[in-house]
Formats: sequence, C-alpha cells, structure tokens
Amino acid sequence: MRIKKVQLTNFRNHADSSLEFSTGLNFITGANAQGKTSVLEALSYICLTRSFLQQSDSSVAKLGGDNFSVDATIETEKNVTNRVRVAYEANAGKKYFLDSNEVRKSSEVIGLFPIVVLAPGDFALTGGAPSERRVFLDIVLSQVSRSYLEELTEYRRALKQRNKILLDGKLNNILDGDLLAAWTSALIAHGTKIVSRRFSFVEEFSGIFSDAYRSLVESGETPWLKYEPSFALEGDIENDFRKSLNALSKIERSRGSTLAGPHRDDIGFFLNGIPIKEFASQGQHKTFLVALKVAESRYIKQKLGETPAMLLDDVMTELDLTRATKAIRTVTGLGQAFITATDMLSFDDKIVDMQDVKFHSVKEGSVVYEHA
Ligand SMILES: Nc1ncnc2c1ncn2[C@@H]1O[C@H](COP(=O)(O)OP(=O)(O)O)[C@@H](O)[C@H]1O
Ligand SMILES: [Mg+2]
Repeated sequence: MRIKKVQLTNFRNHADSSLEFSTGLNFITGANAQGKTSVLEALSYICLTRSFLQQSDSSVAKLGGDNFSVDATIETEKNVTNRVRVAYEANAGKKYFLDSNEVRKSSEVIGLFPIVVLAPGDFALTGGAPSERRVFLDIVLSQVSRSYLEELTEYRRALKQRNKILLDGKLNNILDGDLLAAWTSALIAHGTKIVSRRFSFVEEFSGIFSDAYRSLVESGETPWLKYEPSFALEGDIENDFRKSLNALSKIERSRGSTLAGPHRDDIGFFLNGIPIKEFASQGQHKTFLVALKVAESRYIKQKLGETPAMLLDDVMTELDLTRATKAIRTVTGLGQAFITATDMLSFDDKIVDMQDVKFHSVKEGSVVYEHA
C-alpha cells in the first residue's frame, strides 16, 4: 500500500496543509511543536479511523473551531486507487468516506490500509502495564481480522454490562442474578474466541518476531513471547474461563467488577527464557520494541497481502543514533515509511541518500517545502 497524498484541514495546528508522498521514505522535519506528529496522526485517522495517540476527536479540531477533515489518496498493492475522507464536526460526530461512500462501521475499514506505528508512547510496551501489551495485540489482530474486531467490540459490551450489574449489586445490595448470568454467558462466549485467537497469534508471531530480533542485534540471544491468560488454563479455554469466573464470583460481587478474562490477560516477553521485565537493559527493551514493530509489519503483510505503512514518530529522541539508524534502515526495507525528526544532521549520509526519499518540512502548522 502507498499513501500518495494527504490533506489536513483544521487538524490540530494545521489549517490547510497538503503533502505529496514518496512511495519510499518520507521524512517530516521541523522544530518542536510545529506539527510533525500531527501529520502522522492524520494518517492514523485515514488508516485506523482514529488517532494512535488515543485522544478524543474533539481535541484534534483546530483550537477555536469545531471541525476537522483529512483527505487522502491511497494506492493498494492490487493497484486500486482509493480516496479516503475523514470528517469531524462537533454536532455530527466523525464520518468516514471511502470513494465518497460513507462507511459506518470502523471494522469495515480497519485492515484495508494497514499501518504500524512506533511512537514515544510505545516505549512502555515492553516494561509497562499489561494493558499496553493488550493494545498491541488488539491493534495487530483487528487489522488482520474483521471478525476479531467484532468479537472484541461484543466482549467490551458484555464486560461493561456485567461490571455495571456487579457494581450496582455492591452499591445497592440488589443483584439481578438472571441478568448477570446472561451477560456472563456472553462474556464467556466472546472472551473464549478472543483468547483463542490471541493464543494462535502469539504462537505464529513468535517465530517472525525472533527472526526480526536476530536481524537487529545479530546476537545469540533467544527472544520468546508467551500468551498469559488471567485464569488457570488446564485444557479447554471456555471451560477454564467459566470455572475461574465461578470461583471468583464472591470476590467479584464484593469488588463490583469482572476479575478474569481477556481484558486482564498479558503477553510475557522473554530473552533466553527470562522475563525481560526482570533483567533486560534499556537498550534490550528498545531493540525488543523495534523488533516487535518490524515483525508486526511482516505478519500483517503475510496475512493481508498488503504492506503496511510504517509511522515512526520521534524515534531519534528514544533511540540512540546506532539503533535509530538500524531501525530506519530495517523499516524502509519493509515498504513506505513516514519518519518525523527535528533535524537530519545526525543521520548518516547513507540514509539521506537512499533512493526514493522525500523531505517535508513543517513550520507552524504549514508545509514550508517538500523536495525529493
Ligand atoms: N487542537 C489543536 N489546535 C491547535 N493547535 C494544536 C491542537 N492540538 C495541538 N496543537 C498544537 O499543535 C502543535 C503541533 O503539535 P505536534 O504535531 O505534536 O508537533 P511536533 O510533532 O512537530 O512537535 C503544538 O504546538 C500543539 O500545541
Ligand atoms: Mg512530535
């Protein structure tokens, strides 16, 4: 997939910016707070229907206004050219258009134009809370499988309802047992599918990931990933999930929330059999993260036949020069890439000289020049 051009209208500090991209490497340069990340964020709206920064649509509209839009032209690997528009208005909400047709369900879009994002917030992925790793799983799986995304939406609905009933029971001392049982069944049905999909994903992804890791460090370390459910798994996911909820039922009622299920699962990251949380250096964490993103791209390509665009935000501030250079080289071998940077001086000439490179310089919410 290649994003040919994008136009941002009233998008953060961009009043009206147009960019035409190279099909290879695109550097978006400029000083701090000029609007570089916003360009990547706009691409995220086009490809994932929302910001990768997990922020509300209303915060994106240019200050003082109540609307924004992003228009893009994308060419797929099947050589189909699509025009995509995302338009937000405070009173009408957000609308997504594919070739002028409104698409109402985001699950119908997510996965058509896959992306892999590496942004400063991702550096919590390897060492931070389990929720970070669940987001990683869900974003990859949602892009490769519409049914996964739909299961996830149903699961979240059941979880919300079930938690509400449990909390009502706790606060008001009345609990509708039948209603709770109904939502528990829904939770188990959707949860089982999610856990099962995540298990097979981690199994399949682990090999792709080890290869990516070894290509980045050329060391003898053996990296490994393991899915870690929040309930004791002895054989059958559905039975064991149900058993665990039964066993937890008293504590769930006293706490007023659901204590087991895919919303509390984790993935363990290991190097030579030891959890990286326990011993890995900062550098190893960072290499692990870059390898996860490289593997994510390869996995998505394998599943969809469409090469994801890579969005690298501010990697220079998080990675040292050697790692950043290696990461950029590896990433550009994968397909189209968008990389923000405050200056190009630190990159070695080979990167700047690469074929198919374009520079887009951003200043105060405008594109001041573009050149190849
Ligand atoms: N809704 C908004 N309206 C106007 N300006 C915004 C909005 N949201 C953020 N900004 C501003 O936009 C500027 C650009 O942000 P960003 O793209 O993150 O910059 P960069 O990545 O170049 O450091 C910042 O100065 C920020 O304060
Ligand atoms: Mg930025």
